[in-house]
Amino acid sequence: MKELKFLNKFLYKYRIKLIIGFFITVTARIFALIAPNLVGNSITLIENYVLSSSIDLDVLKERLVINILLIIGSALIAGVFTFIMRQMIINVSRFIEFDLKNIIYKKYQNLDFDFYKNNRTGDLMNRISEDVSKVRMYVGPAIMYTINTITLFIIVVSYMFSVAPKLTMYTLIPLPILSIIIYKISRIINIRSKIVQEYLSKLTTFTQEAFSGVKIIKTYTIEDFTNQKLEKLASDSKNKNMSLVKVQSWFFPLMILLIGISNILVIYIGGNQYMNGQIELGVLAEFIIYVNMLTWPVATVGWVTSIIQQAEASQKRINEFLNVPYKIVNKKNSKLMVDGDISFNNVSYTYKETNIKALDKISFNVKKGESIAIMGDVGSGKTTILELISRVYEPDQGNVYIGGNNISDINLNLLRDSIGYVPQSTFLFSETIENNLKFGKEDASNSEIKESIKIADLTDDINLFKDKYNTLLGERGVNLSGGQKQRLAIARAVIKKPKILILDDSLSAVDTQTEENIISNINNITKNITVFISTHRISTSKNCDKILVINNGNLESFGSHEELMKQKKTYFETYTKQSKEKDLN
Ligand SMILES: Nc1ncnc2c1ncn2[C@@H]1O[C@H](COP(=O)(O)OP(=O)(O)O)[C@@H](O)[C@H]1O
Ligand SMILES: [Mg+2]
Repeated sequence: MKELKFLNKFLYKYRIKLIIGFFITVTARIFALIAPNLVGNSITLIENYVLSSSIDLDVLKERLVINILLIIGSALIAGVFTFIMRQMIINVSRFIEFDLKNIIYKKYQNLDFDFYKNNRTGDLMNRISEDVSKVRMYVGPAIMYTINTITLFIIVVSYMFSVAPKLTMYTLIPLPILSIIIYKISRIINIRSKIVQEYLSKLTTFTQEAFSGVKIIKTYTIEDFTNQKLEKLASDSKNKNMSLVKVQSWFFPLMILLIGISNILVIYIGGNQYMNGQIELGVLAEFIIYVNMLTWPVATVGWVTSIIQQAEASQKRINEFLNVPYKIVNKKNSKLMVDGDISFNNVSYTYKETNIKALDKISFNVKKGESIAIMGDVGSGKTTILELISRVYEPDQGNVYIGGNNISDINLNLLRDSIGYVPQSTFLFSETIENNLKFGKEDASNSEIKESIKIADLTDDINLFKDKYNTLLGERGVNLSGGQKQRLAIARAVIKKPKILILDDSLSAVDTQTEENIISNINNITKNITVFISTHRISTSKNCDKILVINNGNLESFGSHEELMKQKKTYFETYTKQSKEKDLN
């Protein structure tokens, strides 16, 4: 139960409700006990009337009517209290579920990018949905049934012992056996349900992919192939379901069998005792009701045990996530200003997962307001440089300075707020165009929206849409072309009015003319902004103040277009090659 300790602080938080719930449970059980007692009493009265006529028929009738009314009354009260008990304890479990989900989500939001590379989306989703709901079963139903069972057991059994100790002993014998069997069955059910669950998610993933990839399936005419795959998967899933259903079907018959055995024991042993004059007939009737009242709570002992085991396993996984340390932290909460001056001083970076040295002792200085093109082959380290500027990663060696301050001394939120980042692969939310832009600036005005769209050269495209800025994107809305997506992402970065703008190969899907328009728009508005553009196009780099050529993680050259042309190295060769291609067109 070590992992579940984490939840104690929540139980403490809602202690008032839990304590009320506890007392209500005890009261509800006491009232539930009244009914069997009255039944026993009534039968004894009838027996006395029949055997010895010791009471008047009218008196008997009157007392029976009173008993019936009392039984109805106590059942009603027990019912109301049971309702309040559920309201208290099950509600607490919903509150704790809510708290837990918030805590996990908040942790997710603050974790580093590294974490997301090492964990699959499905796992992240499972922690917050499936595992939390398993844990809820522990803080809610498990606790409630435990209180219920213990109070019922103590009250009923001690009462039974006081009335007929020997009979009580015999009737209780099958109950622990019942409890153990239920526990074993629950465990097998859990294991098999888990497998069934896995197959269900395999099936969902498969069908989802088939729907979103329907174009490929049809154009490659692989319908039969995917059909066969689905059939195989579905039939495996069916078999797993059948094996689950088989154990499940043992559950109730076994319970009924054991309850039956208990009843037979009560009738047989109690009947003998009655005939020997050791107990009254009413006691026998009362006991039959008690045995049936006890079986369900006893069965839940086994069920609750398996719930707790599952909750423990789920909470362990949740704790593992909650204990992942933040690698990139705010060392100081200093409000150092972020300024556009940036310098790299002997910066090296190696990716731990692959041991690839992406950057090797890179040094360069950039002044506020300058535009810098970063050029180099695929895999040469362009993205890595840009990610170090926004402190997605931290250098292994050397330092990055922004505005003269070491980047690790700058408040992380302030830093990221000051940077407009357009990543290499665009991601847009399934929202309207306007709302996507508002991810850049929450309170953007209409004119700001229009302006940023204009800078990204997207105005004409949007005017073609019926709903303009309210056009919904994504599956249920419009699918933008690659170039439109990239431009919208640029608008989203520009609207932030960042101090540093980073475009990581963000114009690969637009034509050269559009690219030139956008770059010149950006240069016009960005007198005070430092702009980094990773690109393969000479037409872009030519218009930048500085060009940084990187080759396999090493800085080959850094300087203006004219300077690099004179060096006659990679940049010169690329320029010559691309110019020739342009002439050919
Ligand atoms: N997340 C990562 N994990 C491991 N290796 C990576 C990762 N990202 C990039 N690399 C490697 O680092 C090198 C530089 O990559 P990158 O900076 O993305 O280059 P570029 O942007 O110039 O194409 C490449 O060899 C690449 O395979
Ligand atoms: Mg890249």
